[in-house]
Amino acid sequence: MKFQAKVTDVTKIEADLLAVFAGSEEARKVDGAEEFDGEQGDILFLHSHGNIPAKRVAIVGLGKISELTVSDLQTIAAKIGKKAKEVAAKTVAIALPKELQAQAIVEGLTLGTYTFSKHKSEETRNKEKHIEEVSILTTPPKLNAVVAGISRGETVSQAVMFARDLVNEPPSFTTPTHLADVAGKLVKGHANMSCEVFGPKEMKTLGMEAILGIARGSDEEPRFIHLSYKGGGGKTVCLVGKGITFDTGGLSLKDSKNMETMKLDMAGAAAILGVFSVLPILKPNINVVGLIAATENMPGPKAIKPGDVVAAMNGKTIEILNTDAEGRVVLADALSYAGAKVKSDAIVDLATLTGACMVALGEEIAGMFTDDVTLAEELERAATDSGEHIWSMPLARQYKELVKSDVADVKNISGTKYGGAINGALFLAEFAPLSVPWAHLDIAGPAFAEKDAPLTPKGGTGFGVRMLLQWLLQEK
Ligand code: BES
Ligand code: MN
Ligand code: ZN
Repeated sequence: MKFQAKVTDVTKIEADLLAVFAGSEEARKVDGAEEFDGEQGDILFLHSHGNIPAKRVAIVGLGKISELTVSDLQTIAAKIGKKAKEVAAKTVAIALPKELQAQAIVEGLTLGTYTFSKHKSEETRNKEKHIEEVSILTTPPKLNAVVAGISRGETVSQAVMFARDLVNEPPSFTTPTHLADVAGKLVKGHANMSCEVFGPKEMKTLGMEAILGIARGSDEEPRFIHLSYKGGGGKTVCLVGKGITFDTGGLSLKDSKNMETMKLDMAGAAAILGVFSVLPILKPNINVVGLIAATENMPGPKAIKPGDVVAAMNGKTIEILNTDAEGRVVLADALSYAGAKVKSDAIVDLATLTGACMVALGEEIAGMFTDDVTLAEELERAATDSGEHIWSMPLARQYKELVKSDVADVKNISGTKYGGAINGALFLAEFAPLSVPWAHLDIAGPAFAEKDAPLTPKGGTGFGVRMLLQWLLQEK
């Protein structure tokens, strides 16, 4: 899909489909008599009958423009994209009202029409319809802003799709070794980027017994990935990603239904790789470190057992009572590493950590846990401004006792069926450095769409990429 900004009148533009927004001047131009004030996202199709060069016209309900969020606009654009595909439109023009941003339109169209068909037969793939060209119609005073918005929207979408592709690939392909290879390739040829990869030997030397413990049940070797981008500026933010490339649950084996989607369990890692894939294009003026703890969670003959005790890199010992609560265990080492080896001004981890967070917030909203009010505000703003959804949850210290162990410092499950997302976050808090603002994002819900939604076709969603990029570009 190629985007361009054009200063062409809606009555002159040639396109298979022209989208105008209900109530706008452009809509009145092409839709003279007809009065359509559909609700937000409603689309009315008209045939132009040769009255204007555009073959079809879609009149799109916007609702109250002053109340329209970035996420709303992206969703509306995604719906336009879907409709355009349905009618096999190859060229689309959209009349952009002056109040609205081109970036959200580009992201909505691109992400809404995303497909992952790499593994389908050529015959099936050839049948897929594609929008080839999208013209965003604007006026001379807004032209530069629209051109810039298109460029930003294309880059952000590219990063989100990079993350989606990684999640959607089969889990026997996206092994820890593969993630490390991907990371290595991302930094190639960029003088201000680097990537260090630790295998089992180096991890042992560093004292990462927690990840190594989880990795024991698998034939695949674990990898710890340390990415770095130097954007100048005084600040460094550290992004930490859960990279369980497949979560069987380990010896605390999941049932088949719950295991079905568990290739998603490296979505935190994928988001970080997606972000790094476009840092050389967006060039934020800030230093970024990306840490990925990558391993499979398998029940092989050497697998860690309920009752086993491991020491994380910061020296704290963990009693493993449920091998399916593996994410927090590998993150214990990753957060310890962040505290010991990275000088950061803020740490944000992304993890598909708990089913409980999905129970609390549903499939579209991530839970955010932090003590730092400033960081919370920054991340909330970044999410809102980029069209993603996060919600602040309590890092409730009164439940701290629940993760204390009889035989070790902490245990990896709480022993109560309530408050699972909080207990996971409290466990992580034991390993995050005390002196650095830290936020944990539980992305178990929004990382993967179990059914098609306008902006997120079934599968990996690339959640986190948009808000993180927005945040990095806001920081200066
Ligand atoms: N990867 C899962 C969490 C998950 C579940 C993510 C569903 C996305 C969709 C995680 O490793 C896990 O298994 N968590 C357990 C924790 C429990 C054993 C304390 C869970 O949520 O059931
Ligand atoms: Mn698990
Ligand atoms: Zn998991």
